[in-house]
Amino acid sequence: MNRDWTLIETLLPQDTNPAGSIFGGVIMGLMDKAAAIAAWRYARREVVTAGAEQISLLRPVRLGEVVKVEARVVCTGRTSIDVDVVVETENVLTGDSAVAAAGFFTMVALDREGTPTEVPRWEPRSEEERRLCEAARERRARRGRKSGR
Ligand SMILES: CC(C)(COP(=O)(O)OP(=O)(O)OC[C@H]1O[C@@H](n2cnc3c(N)ncnc32)[C@H](O)[C@@H]1OP(=O)(O)O)[C@@H](O)C(=O)NCCC(=O)NCCS
Repeated sequence: MNRDWTLIETLLPQDTNPAGSIFGGVIMGLMDKAAAIAAWRYARREVVTAGAEQISLLRPVRLGEVVKVEARVVCTGRTSIDVDVVVETENVLTGDSAVAAAGFFTMVALDREGTPTEVPRWEPRSEEERRLCEAARERRARRGRKSGR
């Protein structure tokens, strides 16, 4: 079962704001793309982004830095897949790297009619995976309470 996906990008001048750093929306777009690919490969179904939570942009990403986006499936519901995403940047000239952003994504698998469809059940393989899945379930429960679902 495929559980992780890493996307490597370098960004372009048109992705840059006047202060010389990459627009937050561009970084969030890369996070969404990596989360979608991880969920897609896990479920082997079409997926859509249902939501994203606690996206933190922790430091500016500068033009010329290499951006590594790591997406990791951490839990599933009936039709949804929880994906944790971390963005790391590396200055290729110095080798310095830092975590630049992180967030939690929920992707939903769809059948050919576009209806949410079941995904393979999540089987944690380690204590860390159990902990991450439990955290995802707590976020899900909080969302449910907020939306009255
Ligand atoms: C996501 C979507 C398919 C859910 O449809 P729905 O009719 O609410 O379906 P359901 O109520 O059966 O929920 C399906 C799953 O989505 C989850 N879900 C629905 N809305 C959610 C939200 N805002 N955040 C997180 N999860 C959500 C539910 O918890 C459920 O998960 P589960 O089966 O694992 O328990 C629908 O809202 C949609 O198509 N949204 C647009 C998605 C999109 O276009 N994204 C951008 C392009 S990728």
